[in-house]
Amino acid sequence: MRVGFIGLGIMGSAMAMNIHKKGFPLIVYNRTRSKTEPFAKLGVPVANSPREVAEKSDVVIDMVTDAPDVEEVLFGRDGVVYGAHPGLIVIDMSTNSPEYARYFAKRLAEYGIEFLDAPVTGSDIGARQGTLTIMVGGKREVFERVKPVLEAMGKTIVYAGDVGSGQMLKLLNQIVVGLNMLAVVEAMALAKKASIDMDKLFTVLSTGGANSFTVQYYMPKMMKGDYEPGFKAAHLKKDLKYAVEMANKLGVPLPGTALTLELYNALVAKGLGDKGTQALLRLYHELSGIKE
Ligand SMILES: NC(=O)c1ccc[n+]([C@@H]2O[C@H](COP(=O)([O-])OP(=O)(O)OC[C@H]3O[C@@H](n4cnc5c(N)ncnc54)[C@H](OP(=O)(O)O)[C@@H]3O)[C@@H](O)[C@H]2O)c1
Repeated sequence: MRVGFIGLGIMGSAMAMNIHKKGFPLIVYNRTRSKTEPFAKLGVPVANSPREVAEKSDVVIDMVTDAPDVEEVLFGRDGVVYGAHPGLIVIDMSTNSPEYARYFAKRLAEYGIEFLDAPVTGSDIGARQGTLTIMVGGKREVFERVKPVLEAMGKTIVYAGDVGSGQMLKLLNQIVVGLNMLAVVEAMALAKKASIDMDKLFTVLSTGGANSFTVQYYMPKMMKGDYEPGFKAAHLKKDLKYAVEMANKLGVPLPGTALTLELYNALVAKGLGDKGTQALLRLYHELSGIKE
């Protein structure tokens, strides 16, 4: 099965590399061409457009930022649809919304292209190690066909149901991710002001009932003042916005998620959207008069 991969950012570069390592014939495309260099060095062909990727693949995976970006690579100038051929499958692995997933599926069907929404969780480290959790919406038979490709990138593959279901599960996941970060950041800001030893706080949080991936992976980064992105703050803002929209449509109040969204709104407004989600601690330091 020939695989085409569009979007070699933090996640996509690692995911595509795992597909290559598992021996699938691969072709890659990235808007900023320099990011394709590690692939070119390994002899992986580099396409000049999403259209060329589609022409030379059986399955096209995109891992770009948000829904308008997916729309651009699929339907824009030299987009995937212009390289359509019978049997082509598109898998959108970026995080957006169930509505967009249904919209992409419908428009792609007009070109005879099958579509799955398959967002991921597990962070940049999970992408590098090939241990992502992948949530898939779309036709089950299409899912079964591409499962070996998904297994090259992830350890836990969940068939979620109809198209859009993958994105729904992912948005639920992001509620927990966002509120976890908020909790850890609040504890760390208060600890700092109260002159509590941060190593001791880490020992307590990471061994007891408060333990989480956020504590394990992001707290040590914050302790070192490392705010570089594994997962960009602007991307979490995007996800929380879609989660609040989904909740509003269903009449479910999510005050915690809405609060977290506003804090990430503030972070992005301060110009920190390209920093990691853990940069929320910087906002709390500022609010409480703590010098970095
Ligand atoms: N990082 C994580 O921990 C994580 C975990 C799970 C899910 N996600 C989701 O995965 C997706 C990608 O995240 P990331 O961390 O890999 O982001 P990233 O490092 O910012 O990479 C984004 C990629 O999308 C490409 N892109 C964006 N807009 C485009 C457009 N209009 N046309 C063509 N290419 C475009 C970028 O190309 P250029 O290089 O040209 O800018 C880049 O390759 C997002 O939806 C994010 O929410 C991230």
